[in-house]
Amino acid sequence: MRLLIMGPPGAGKGTHAKLLCKEYNIVHISTGDMFRTAIKLGTAEGMIAKQFIDKGNLVPDDIVIGIVREKIQENECNNGFLLDGFPRNIEQAKSLDIILDECGVKIDAVLNLQVSDDILIKRISGRRVCSKCGETYHVVNHPPKVEGICDVCGGNLVQRKDDTEETIKTRLKIYNKQTKPLLKYYEKQNLLKNLNGVEDINLLFNNIKKLLGGMND
Ligand code: AP5
Ligand code: MG
Ligand code: ZN
Repeated sequence: MRLLIMGPPGAGKGTHAKLLCKEYNIVHISTGDMFRTAIKLGTAEGMIAKQFIDKGNLVPDDIVIGIVREKIQENECNNGFLLDGFPRNIEQAKSLDIILDECGVKIDAVLNLQVSDDILIKRISGRRVCSKCGETYHVVNHPPKVEGICDVCGGNLVQRKDDTEETIKTRLKIYNKQTKPLLKYYEKQNLLKNLNGVEDINLLFNNIKKLLGGMND
């Protein structure tokens, strides 16, 4: 299975991507996570990306497209993958079509998580991530068993550097201007599946599974 998960910042893309990849045994390709790892490792690409990410701006297309192309071509992606946070503009969407063509594969569905701005802001400001393994929590909606500590690995929970009020506004603006128009692009290709991203995490996960199960019938 090959999927895209789309939606504004804080919509729950990462949360559901992790659940879906485990369920279907496919590879989670999150460009945001890849950049955060590169920043942590201090690579040259990471250092360039950091300048854009910290301000809430998009990383230049040539860098993003390069890392996605490399990843999709890896053998571990043969069984399928889920792209989270890519494509984010029309240029990236067209490049993805070319990459998929080169690999002789197609996207099965584009999952679009719909959430209103007021809820997004609450989600992003309450988000905490594990500094060790990247697992995501929310202080109210999805708290860890012990405050500030990751359930999975015991690492410390921190706030993402781009989760400030000011940066969130920029990220939402860019989403509306550059990324949202892609929904039409995928609707025209009959791939778009709109989902109510406000639902409880487990309920929404079950709805997505039902939807994807139905597609294989
Ligand atoms: P990226 O990491 O992709 O960030 P984003 O798109 O802003 O999305 P988020 O990760 O903030 O939100 P999410 O939808 O994953 O929500 P989550 O599941 O965490 O990108 C970061 C930056 O990298 C970009 O700004 C850009 O600079 C750069 N970048 C990345 N890709 C790029 C590209 N292709 N081109 C150029 N630049 C790129 O959930 C949020 C919170 O809500 C959590 O606390 C969670 O626990 C909670 N939650 C989730 N679902 C629910 C629910 N159903 N009910 C209640 N709470 C919920
Ligand atoms: Mg995410
Ligand atoms: Zn952890």
